Amino acid sequence: MPDHLPRREVLRTAGALGLGAAAAGALSSTAVATTQAGSAAGTPDKLAAMGAHHGKLEIRKDPFGTTPEGVAVDVYTFTNGRVTISMLTWGATIQRVETPDRRGRTKNISLGFDNLPDYAALSPYFGATIGRYGNRIAKGRFTLDGTTYQIPVNNGENALHGGTIGFDKKVWKAKTVRTDDSVGVAFSYVSPDGEMGFPGELSTTVTYTLDRRDNLRIDYQATVAGKPTVVNLTNHVYFNLAGEGSGSIDDHVLELNASSYTPVDAGLIPTGEIAPVAGTPFDFNKPTPIGARLRGDHPQLIVGRGYDHNFVLGGKTDHDGLRFAARFWEPEDGRTVTVHTDQPGAQFYSGNFLDGTFLGIGNKAYRQGDAFAFETQHFPDSPNQPNFPSTVLRPGETYATTTIYTFGTK
Ligand code: BGC
Repeated sequence: MPDHLPRREVLRTAGALGLGAAAAGALSSTAVATTQAGSAAGTPDKLAAMGAHHGKLEIRKDPFGTTPEGVAVDVYTFTNGRVTISMLTWGATIQRVETPDRRGRTKNISLGFDNLPDYAALSPYFGATIGRYGNRIAKGRFTLDGTTYQIPVNNGENALHGGTIGFDKKVWKAKTVRTDDSVGVAFSYVSPDGEMGFPGELSTTVTYTLDRRDNLRIDYQATVAGKPTVVNLTNHVYFNLAGEGSGSIDDHVLELNASSYTPVDAGLIPTGEIAPVAGTPFDFNKPTPIGARLRGDHPQLIVGRGYDHNFVLGGKTDHDGLRFAARFWEPEDGRTVTVHTDQPGAQFYSGNFLDGTFLGIGNKAYRQGDAFAFETQHFPDSPNQPNFPSTVLRPGETYATTTIYTFGTK
């Protein structure tokens, strides 16, 4: 992929936005970005401090780059004065998540890049909104109402995360959203009938909002026109709660509210079995370090090169029809992220395919197990698995689901 953005511009843009400035609480004026591009390093910190004191909900928009086709990509940065999130219109991608640790020290805890070419060429879905179908469809093929559809395969013989050019590689429309209690961005994308082989024109809006209590709420909505289709949207943010690029997540403690999971074959396609976690390394009902059993001899850990499995979420729903799905805790700095969702499953992925071949946003190589993803969703390969909850969406129906990531410390 050609380096279509002049390198210097990439660096200047990143400098203006990221690394300090993105942590800034005072985000109301785009003039701030222009000034900071050439200004001394102290300024962003001063802004960050101001934001933290006022606890204000603020948002700003800045240019992030241009695609080879000449489409402008923006970065939206929104904050509640404590947590600051940057999102790109490229892939409706979470680029940065800055949260304080137990002692109030703020770091970026999400993996990503500081420039668009790296997202386009290198990203294993860092922070991206995934569609039309999250995770794998066996051989990229499924039959719906008697018609067989073929998605271009991009993961061995299977289709992963919507095929070769999924929603993560599209430039989404963006609209700022604000309430008294929250601020964020509504991203929308219309996927034409037949795109990546999927039937029906799918209109999708995914709204990301941050409230004053450090909840990042993701509301997914979609409708289809013309033909029925299958939909499974998720977000693929990777976290390291000690800071991105800081090493392994082996010591992160995980509590996962699931009493079963869906074992997979060598191509990571579910076998169709719903297997109990009890007595296996997949049981995280009692909080357990991720690394505690990762190197054991369970065949499913070997097949997945670690955890790369869909968990069947259980238990009662609590507020808003959502249920507690998982809590991750990094004991050293004390950051936590807690996930609530209305989805039936979640892919817990221990960063097995990160292999140190490229540098991330903080100029550190990401190696195997340096981050985790927890993708709330329907089960992989549902279009071919009659005993899994259905992912079919028909004209006239609305697909609507919600997931909340809550940032905290303990
Ligand atoms: C998949 C992994 C894949 C990762 C990044 C996860 O959702 O289950 O197998 O490597 O996404 O592409």
